[in-house]
Amino acid sequence: LLGAVSAAALTLGAQQAHAQCDDGEMVIKFSHVVAATGHPKGDAATMLAERVNKEMDGKACMEVFPNSTLFDDDKVLEALLIGDVQLAAPSLSKFEAYTLKYRLFDLPFLFSSLQAVDTFINSDEGRGLLTVMEDVGYTGLGYWSSGLKQFSANKPLLVPSDANGLKFRVQTSDVAVAMIEAMGASAQKLAFKEVYGALQTGVVDGQENTWSNIYTQKFFEVQDGVTETNHQLLAYLLVTSTEWLNGLDEDIRTQFVSIVDEVTKEANAAVAETEAKNRQNIIDAGGTIRELSAEQRKQWVDTMKPVWAQFEGDIGKDLIDAAAASNG
Ligand code: LMR
Repeated sequence: LLGAVSAAALTLGAQQAHAQCDDGEMVIKFSHVVAATGHPKGDAATMLAERVNKEMDGKACMEVFPNSTLFDDDKVLEALLIGDVQLAAPSLSKFEAYTLKYRLFDLPFLFSSLQAVDTFINSDEGRGLLTVMEDVGYTGLGYWSSGLKQFSANKPLLVPSDANGLKFRVQTSDVAVAMIEAMGASAQKLAFKEVYGALQTGVVDGQENTWSNIYTQKFFEVQDGVTETNHQLLAYLLVTSTEWLNGLDEDIRTQFVSIVDEVTKEANAAVAETEAKNRQNIIDAGGTIRELSAEQRKQWVDTMKPVWAQFEGDIGKDLIDAAAASNG
């Protein structure tokens, strides 16, 4: 493992880790792939570590490794099972190898606002999905929302047909592939840490992500512009190993889970503001943002929504209906 991590990454990891773990404290390592600060997930991870390190001092100690310095999202799931890390928060698009139910969250234009996302993840149906991977060793501790996604490309995109023939980076999600193909474009699955380079060198022409990722990873600098499509949710599963969680002493587990629940609520309540800030940061840094007219937006919806039917069997119609009902 260490051989694969660069010296620079190790230095950054060590800086970020800065919790001083004492002898006898249980070490909780949390590896993620985004910016350490100014990003919904980076900020939530920091908040969680600060609370654990203060309130569980002497019992537990949390170290956070951001920016793919320790693992990318594929590897981190394996690392959880062998105990190399105890927490991760990959996007819900990255669990296809373990459950097809989470395809729900990727359906284009399913949620019309972050408020609707909040309503669904706190519903019985939403909470029920936290435990669907226990048979393969993972327990979801909560959903961390991150924002709705926008498209960017190396040419202006105002209607879906503008994307004809372009290649877009997607996460490891077949729903995303189907959605891109519905636009007459092609999709390439790539790890998050490879996206900037792939855009810069023209390996792909475009990508889709939140304002926070587009700003903090500087994707806007190597794209013509960003189109405000709000077409799909980006949310994470704060996930741990079921075996690790069940192996904790009951008082430790109760305290830890209650801190997680509080941080999750606080973090989700802060997402809209962080996203708005990063949208403005892109403008302030000279990036181009294109807004859609109602007619243009309708074309995106009409192009992408038919994709739902392809995945209804994997997800279940009841679940799709419950999620769609959260829009009010
Ligand atoms: C992506 O791969 O685009 C995102 O899942 C990265 C992230 O964690 O926000």
